[in-house]
Amino acid sequence: MRDSILFFNVIRGLHIVAVIAWMAGMLYLPRLYVYHFRAKPGSEMDATFQEMEAKLLKIIINPAMVMVVVFGGTLVWVDWARIGPHFWAAPWALTKIVGLIGLFSWHGYLAQSRKRFAAGAYPRSERFWRMSNELPFIAALVIVLSVTTKFGL
Ligand code: HEM
Repeated sequence: MRDSILFFNVIRGLHIVAVIAWMAGMLYLPRLYVYHFRAKPGSEMDATFQEMEAKLLKIIINPAMVMVVVFGGTLVWVDWARIGPHFWAAPWALTKIVGLIGLFSWHGYLAQSRKRFAAGAYPRSERFWRMSNELPFIAALVIVLSVTTKFGL
């Protein structure tokens, strides 16, 4: 029993560390897009931003997202065995799922936009990327408070 609690807590810690890396990357990438607008397409600065954006996605954001899902999935598996499948029907869990849909969609949109920057078709505007930077932060706030409070249980 103590071993299984230790296992759950270690995985929970790794899950949180992976979330930190995923969020850090998703907060930084739109910042790069803001400054990318100041580089002329085809210039040396444009190439530098393209490389930074591609590496940020490939080395940090995508692997961190995979780790969040792997560790989160392991926690689901343990909770499922402990509590049963109905734990996902609790209001806090449904709220977390809504927040997750938001974060996964934003991740996909950021990745798609990177391809458009690389093709020289700068998507949206400097102002859009500056303003939208708060969106993943709001989703993370909702998710973290829903799991820490477990409201509606
Ligand atoms: C597919 C993605 C994810 C899955 C399957 C998942 C699943 C889980 C599960 C089952 C737990 C354990 C709940 C418990 O019994 O205490 C948990 C804990 C946690 N998750 Fe996630 N999660 C995911 C993504 C995220 C994201 C994106 C965030 C933050 C933005 C997050 C933040 C947390 C936190 C802070 C805890 C610890 C809560 C506590 O111990 O009080 N998770 N996650």
